Amino acid sequence: MDIPFSRWHLAIEKRRSRRHFDPNIPLPPEALAALDKVCNQFAPFPHAQSRLVTESAESVFKGIIGSYGKVKDAPAFIAFIGDMDDPFVQEEVGYIGEGIILEATALGLNTCWVGGFFRPEIVASLIELRNKERVLAVTSVGYAREFESWEEKLMTRFARSHNRVAISKLARGLPREKWPDWVNPCLEAARRAPSAANRQPWGFDVQADGITVFVRTAGPEFNVSKRLDCGIAMLHLEVAAADCGRRGQWEFLPSPQVAKFKTYSQSVLLALTLSGK
Ligand SMILES: Cc1cc2nc3c(=O)[nH]c(=O)nc-3n(C[C@H](O)[C@H](O)[C@H](O)COP(=O)(O)O)c2cc1C
Repeated sequence: MDIPFSRWHLAIEKRRSRRHFDPNIPLPPEALAALDKVCNQFAPFPHAQSRLVTESAESVFKGIIGSYGKVKDAPAFIAFIGDMDDPFVQEEVGYIGEGIILEATALGLNTCWVGGFFRPEIVASLIELRNKERVLAVTSVGYAREFESWEEKLMTRFARSHNRVAISKLARGLPREKWPDWVNPCLEAARRAPSAANRQPWGFDVQADGITVFVRTAGPEFNVSKRLDCGIAMLHLEVAAADCGRRGQWEFLPSPQVAKFKTYSQSVLLALTLSGK
């Protein structure tokens, strides 16, 4: 599937985690069909996939303390699955998961990535997993309640969800005055990415022929890989680059680097344009 860059770039601006859903608004069949389609079609890596589940969503989410902090009344969820034999499985799952979430946002739906606080055994009982496959994260999906509940507001404040680290603290490599025009919008989109507990573990090494994403922060992972967060930022970066007319491809790298977005040369870009891609 070709990424709908402009649609997803707009969705990056709109997306916010919502944890409490309106139990009176079910998902209409058209929305379910559109979600199912993007789950099946946005699968650029053979070892990472997503699956829409419309049963038992309430039993999948658990609270942070007791039922506190729990995702509530979601009519459906999407499981993000990776094959653990793949050394880059975490970033691939982050990348595809965020694509599905941006499409859900573009469809007018609300979501919340959940990495630690869900019950993998219940998810596994609802979907078929192959030998080395694991559910690395899920997202709730549905229509959020019109107003945030006090519990949701507190969770947002607790995670300082609206704060983002400044680009000047995230970027290294080429000095800013030498950045080509497309770099700033890409880093702006990447730094807006969601991450577990809003920890924003990514950094960006700007080079003449692309941008390398790396894990910038030290410290424990708390059950959710920082490389998964970095995969989410990778998708945001690529979406913004393409929306600025810059195309390229990812080369996965060993830790603490994650992957390099290598921009295509003018001749490759021309060939792509001529072939209508
Ligand atoms: C991989 C991942 C795991 C997350 N896990 C949880 C979770 O278990 N519970 C929760 O309430 N929020 C979870 N979040 C949501 C983050 O807290 C949220 O994305 C972050 O605070 C930024 O806020 P925003 O999404 O509104 O921009 C997770 C986000 C990501 C990306």
